[in-house]
Amino acid sequence: MLKGRSLVEPEDFSIEEMDSLFSLAEKIEKDQKYLRESCRGKLLATLFFEPSTRTRLSFEAAMLRLGGSCLGFAEPGSSSASKGESLADTIRMAACYADAIVMRNPKEGAALLASRYSDIPVINAGDGGHHHPTQTLTDLLTIKRLTGKIENFTIGFCGDLKFGRTVHSLAKALSRYNKIKMLFISPSELVLPDYIKSVLKNKNVEFEERENLEKSMPEIDVLYMTRVQRERFFNEDDYIRLKDIYVLNSEKMAAGRENLIVLHPLPRVNEISIEVDADPRAAYFAQAKYGMYVRMALLSSILGVV
Ligand code: CP
Repeated sequence: MLKGRSLVEPEDFSIEEMDSLFSLAEKIEKDQKYLRESCRGKLLATLFFEPSTRTRLSFEAAMLRLGGSCLGFAEPGSSSASKGESLADTIRMAACYADAIVMRNPKEGAALLASRYSDIPVINAGDGGHHHPTQTLTDLLTIKRLTGKIENFTIGFCGDLKFGRTVHSLAKALSRYNKIKMLFISPSELVLPDYIKSVLKNKNVEFEERENLEKSMPEIDVLYMTRVQRERFFNEDDYIRLKDIYVLNSEKMAAGRENLIVLHPLPRVNEISIEVDADPRAAYFAQAKYGMYVRMALLSSILGVV
């Protein structure tokens, strides 16, 4: 079903296709030997034009656990992009050598362009402030595993909602599920872009924009914290003014529901105090692990070995 397909935006896959990936990821999680050697002889190109820890390493771990191999670069300075090679040509080259490409790029739309120049699947590992669909698969699987469902809850997105590609992708993806209310908590300078709000309005999703996290805590089932991203600001003074505007600490957690789950795509800086890590409702490290399982499910599916 997913063999040979690219993933540029979350909507590239249907709800049913995503469900099949979640089922497969859960099967892999339960039986660590399942699909162990299924990608032997296959090559994954990881082309990272921007820094990454989780996405790159979890894709590489996923491919290695499936018995396949990886090649690529972790920063553009070590590729011929630094000599002026176009993205289209870099992608054509990677498509000569590998069976699938995972790419992160600071430019919005780069993944779509790459998919058009490639005759092998291209997976968007983040394109600027636009989308990060495999983080969305990770987030949805985490919600499903920890709450048993992807419906009928209130999610609070907090922090940098303007540049936060993980927020954009997850909000769009959740708009396809039932009875999900969204609270967008940010300073006025970092509100959700209008194009995402239009999608939500068109789908009659119930949402509100707010500035106060503490007051919102009692209403939230899933809290999605995000980092204020220094690399997306044009003005350092604006970043310094806004960077610590939300800090989730034990005091705020005390106002949260007993069955709350706290997610964060990571990396975090100051927006979640370390003291929160010991709270059983903190799920962000488990979330990162689910990311590897869902990426194993994705790779084995698009490579057609399952
Ligand atoms: N969540 C995420 O994309 O993390 P990295 O930037 O470390 O890949």
